[in-house]
Amino acid sequence: MQIRDIISETKDIGKLDLINIISFTLSMRKEEILMNVEREIENEQLAHIKNLVKDRMRGKPLSYITKSKEFFSEPFFVDERVLIPRPETELLVEEALQILTKKPHISHILDMGTGSGAIGIAISKRTGTHIVCVDISMEALSVARKNAFLLQASGSIHFVCSDLFRGIKRGRKFDMVLANLPYVSHEEWDGVMVEVRDFEPKIALYGGVGGTEVYERFAREIPHYLEKDGYVICEVGGDTQGKKIKGMLETIGLTVVVKKDLSDRVRMLTGHG
Ligand SMILES: C[S@@+](CC[C@H](N)C(=O)[O-])C[C@H]1O[C@@H](n2cnc3c(N)ncnc32)[C@H](O)[C@@H]1O
Repeated sequence: MQIRDIISETKDIGKLDLINIISFTLSMRKEEILMNVEREIENEQLAHIKNLVKDRMRGKPLSYITKSKEFFSEPFFVDERVLIPRPETELLVEEALQILTKKPHISHILDMGTGSGAIGIAISKRTGTHIVCVDISMEALSVARKNAFLLQASGSIHFVCSDLFRGIKRGRKFDMVLANLPYVSHEEWDGVMVEVRDFEPKIALYGGVGGTEVYERFAREIPHYLEKDGYVICEVGGDTQGKKIKGMLETIGLTVVVKKDLSDRVRMLTGHG
């Protein structure tokens, strides 16, 4: 069977997803696929493509199928052990880089809930700053370590498996703490897309009944780990929740600036001591 045949025969998933699956299986760039539609596909490869198409039909995210997601122009390895990095999270990296340009003395940074390592690795790659990446999931940290190695950032990153700051020595202070912690509430959980709810790790998404349980603990613990004039940059899930977490950060003495994403939803809080 030729590439052109499988493209014309497969109707159950989108064309772009199919091209991505073919490109992943044949280790060819997408443009090459379109320029070589007469190429014969071996039986084993064909069976593999068909299996991946079935996975996609039952809702498996394309990034888990192709084991890759671009974040801040870097190709991150991803699988079911980690949340797929979202484009809106790039806002946190942009904010951190802007602050780092103005305050080049900043040298102690922590990425809380690192998952695939997206935030910490993107910052480390751009600045060479040493970063501590923390996650409660050992499995997620294996993926983050793999990414640090694949993206050649491993020298300047330290990985810690910990429930928030529990594994960080009391008295150790950071100039900047970034956090994209789980923030989906119990009420929102049923409305979450199947692709997300059935495939991505619940521990990466579910933030307790009200959605802010992890952030509440984070806000209680962070004063012990933040330098006096330090920065906290958090991703949040919308206006109501943003207001609540902003209040928590203000209670511990930070001045908080709110930023919205492209859909005009409150997405990021920057607290400054
Ligand atoms: C929303 S994901 C963010 C992943 C990644 N930072 C990103 O932006 O793509 C939240 C991450 O926080 C981790 N996490 C959840 N509860 C945690 C806790 N109590 N302490 C540390 N990490 C936690 C999850 O394992 C998950 O990797």
